[in-house]
Amino acid sequence: MAEQRSAFTRVPASVVILKVISFLLPTDFLRTFVYLNLIKKPRSFLRTTINSFYRMDHIYDVLSEFSSTYKGNFTVLEFGVASGYTFTKMLYATKYLGVSDRFTVHGFDSFEGMHETSERADKDIVTDDNWAVGQFKFSREGLHDYCAEKYANFKLHKGMFDDTLSEEMLAELSEKPPVLVWIDCDYYTSARSAMERLIPVLPNGCVIYFDEPEFNYGSRFTGEMRLIHEINRGLYGEQIELVLDPELSLNSSRIYRFINAARDAVYEPYRKINSAEFSRPRGNDSPLP
Ligand SMILES: C[S@@+](CC[C@H](N)C(=O)[O-])C[C@H]1O[C@@H](n2cnc3c(N)ncnc32)[C@H](O)[C@@H]1O
Repeated sequence: MAEQRSAFTRVPASVVILKVISFLLPTDFLRTFVYLNLIKKPRSFLRTTINSFYRMDHIYDVLSEFSSTYKGNFTVLEFGVASGYTFTKMLYATKYLGVSDRFTVHGFDSFEGMHETSERADKDIVTDDNWAVGQFKFSREGLHDYCAEKYANFKLHKGMFDDTLSEEMLAELSEKPPVLVWIDCDYYTSARSAMERLIPVLPNGCVIYFDEPEFNYGSRFTGEMRLIHEINRGLYGEQIELVLDPELSLNSSRIYRFINAARDAVYEPYRKINSAEFSRPRGNDSPLP
């Protein structure tokens, strides 16, 4: 029965076209060349152009979302700043969108570059090509001077995250809640040390960006993916999770929304749409609205 059905199944038009092309070309070499260069390449190009993730896009999406939806002032936090490649792009985004008076961008880094680690979860266990000690060492003062010439809404915190995420700093973040936490410190242990201090001040809906969840093919035993997995298995509480945001993440697994189901909402919306009067009136019966 199954065989009978497949015998009558219509061949898709794309396959018919491929068969015609194949028929018209005289050799397997030409068929392969035409397929790889005129069919496979443009298909991959279109696929990646439309759906691939670019890590600067969501800075603008997140700033626009929070500035238009919620009242008050906010913070953007970057863990792992190095030369400031991303940091200055974030600052420019606040300026471009005209929200620099409402968003302060905080950068946290030892500015000493990558440190020694003996933790297996920090290691590249596929290629063994690990970060070198001192890699990404840059001058905090150099970056500060560059930023100070152009922007006023930033702070750079030099030191290990354990130290710079002090009680004082966390109190400041409670006043100006984070909307975007950018984790780009490469080690599982570093990402964990930042997240475990931040968790009490993260509001529900806060965007958490991980720069390298693909480390070791995204294994849940190493790197940022390990931390994401641990958090979602209750490391900091049964009701705390990171929910993948597919609209911002596109084809990646980099962007999450923080949820602590035991915590009340912190961001204050400009308006709430629900009321006893609000409901959707009946329209026509077609699928069109
Ligand atoms: C890949 S670099 C950051 C790149 C940067 N985000 C950019 O856009 O160019 C990683 C940085 O994380 C910093 N880092 C790693 N672990 C840290 C920790 N526990 N405390 C402070 N800084 C840390 C290193 O000093 C290094 O500069």
